[in-house]
Amino acid sequence: MNHSKVRNLTIDAVFLALLIVFAMVPAIPVGFIPVPIVLQNVAVMLISLLLGARRGSAVMAIFIMMIAIGMPVLTGGHGGMASLVGPTAGYIWAWLFQPAAFAFLARFVPKKEGALMPNFFLSFALIFILDMVLVFGLGSAWLAHVAHMDFFKAYLGNMAFVPGDMIKVFIATTVATAIQSRVK
Ligand code: BTN
Repeated sequence: MNHSKVRNLTIDAVFLALLIVFAMVPAIPVGFIPVPIVLQNVAVMLISLLLGARRGSAVMAIFIMMIAIGMPVLTGGHGGMASLVGPTAGYIWAWLFQPAAFAFLARFVPKKEGALMPNFFLSFALIFILDMVLVFGLGSAWLAHVAHMDFFKAYLGNMAFVPGDMIKVFIATTVATAIQSRVK
């Protein structure tokens, strides 16, 4: 295995570890829908911003496999097949597609030659749009199905996450932009 492959695998492992570390921060229940405020999605944002479609999807797929085999890698230490079909499963599956979706959308906006991601403002906008459309969309659709709720009611419940997620997108984009500016 060559040097850059080892380096990339090490970086991917660090991001996988970050997903697990962020799961240790307790969830905050919102009350009206069975979906809490979590910090773990900041790690998914960083993975999407910095790893690209292939490596980002691979890290998220390994994370989903860890959940599937029962490892307690979700916020509050939950995991297992029940988590992958439970009320919050739509959000977790959306996380799997987020790195590829970000890479796809990033192809349509200007980017500096050789840059990992578009500039701060475009990256912020793309990650925020993906959160509102892909994550909230799939999350609400599955929640509506499982909890026999109206989709629009479920989606509206997600508005409770908007202020916090906006701050998380800001933090993830700031950190990713700083890392990108230091990587040749
Ligand atoms: C789980 O641990 O079961 C997944 C929780 C998903 C929470 C979603 S992710 C998008 C939105 N922002 C939050 O802070 N919480 C929800």
